[in-house]
Amino acid sequence: MDLFEHQAKELFAEYGIPVPRGIVAHTVEEARAAAEQLTGRVVVKAQVKTGGRGKAGGVKVAADAADAEQKATQILGMDIKGHTVHKVLVEEASAIAEEYYFSFLLDRANRTFLAICSAAGGMEIEEVAHSAPEKVAKVPISPLDGVNRARAREIAQAGGLPEVALDGAAELIEKLWCAFVDEDASLVEVNPMILSADGQVKALDGKVTLDDNATFRQKDHAAFEDKNAEDPLEAAAKAKDLNYVKLDGSVGIIGNGAGLVMSTLDVVAYAGEAFAGRPKPANFLDIGGGASAEVMAAGLEIIISDPSVKSIFVNVFGGITACDAVANGIVSAFELLDSRGETVRLPLVVRLDGNNAELGRQILADAKLSGVELVDTMDDAAKRAAELAAVGA
Ligand SMILES: Nc1ncnc2c1ncn2[C@@H]1O[C@H](COP(=O)(O)OP(=O)(O)OP(=O)(O)O)[C@@H](O)[C@H]1O
Ligand SMILES: [Mg+2]
Repeated sequence: MDLFEHQAKELFAEYGIPVPRGIVAHTVEEARAAAEQLTGRVVVKAQVKTGGRGKAGGVKVAADAADAEQKATQILGMDIKGHTVHKVLVEEASAIAEEYYFSFLLDRANRTFLAICSAAGGMEIEEVAHSAPEKVAKVPISPLDGVNRARAREIAQAGGLPEVALDGAAELIEKLWCAFVDEDASLVEVNPMILSADGQVKALDGKVTLDDNATFRQKDHAAFEDKNAEDPLEAAAKAKDLNYVKLDGSVGIIGNGAGLVMSTLDVVAYAGEAFAGRPKPANFLDIGGGASAEVMAAGLEIIISDPSVKSIFVNVFGGITACDAVANGIVSAFELLDSRGETVRLPLVVRLDGNNAELGRQILADAKLSGVELVDTMDDAAKRAAELAAVGA
């Protein structure tokens, strides 16, 4: 999960990282009131989860409250790279002497953490990284050693920060490392990290990505969720503990195992090319190894509640959970949904292979569920599901 700048700064503040005082505003009136409260010069900043806000005109300095109101009028409702601005952060304006870049991130390719630091920070950092990569220090961080004050100072030095900024930067970097580790983040970025006119080092911007795999031990993170942006089907699936991602096609997909589901998406997209309207997968849904009737029912329930779905493809390779168990799961799921008045009325193509496939197919054939077709191979089943989606559209 990515955080908004104001959320990132709230988190930074909890770790003692200096950030400017700021107030979130959803309306022009709130922006004015926030500026009045902060007094003096303020900066009005678009809160959207994308970079380059400054360049897009989403970060503006205002001389006073009336001006802040003006600037908020321009920024609220603005579109920045496909993100509509619903709120702004009104923040006290800092007197900036210098702008630096700093981040900690998970370096997947090298299986380690990485600190990136540069004295040439600010809005042009991408350009600097491209044209003068020697100005950007990349320092691998061992998760066993971590980052203490001395190490933090070395990194700041490697990034070319001037002597006057080193102590302040080292303190900020050390605290940022604590935030990165304790919050299970995969990215914490401060651009710009500034040296103010009065010699303080502060975080003037904040970008944080939290690792969703750690949600189970980070109960506080739920408060960061952006309910406005969440897809209602994905939210419903999450509530049922399903591994579901909404896509924009019309063929509902259920499979067991993420790899199988990923390849099912490809095969269906390819098969769809041959039919009218080029039907594509409507979702990713991995029901995992133990496909119980409840899980199958929960999955079917989510998929049939998606109005763009015209056909469903259940692609299962029996392993530890054998095909007969999956077939029984499908039969029970139909009964369960029927009893809840949510009868499955869409055509459903089932491909069962692997452990006890014959038995599974027999169970489904005997059950004579309306709309259910058995197809032997994955390719043929994908074709049939795409065809049915094209007909149903
Ligand atoms: N509180 C502030 N006081 C003074 N200047 C500020 C303040 N906040 C931001 N700025 C100025 O605006 C510039 C852009 O702000 P910021 O980095 O927050 O947004 P951004 O352009 O979206 O950055 P990114 O591309 O990293 O997301 C900063 O580099 C800084 O010069
Ligand atoms: Mg920035």
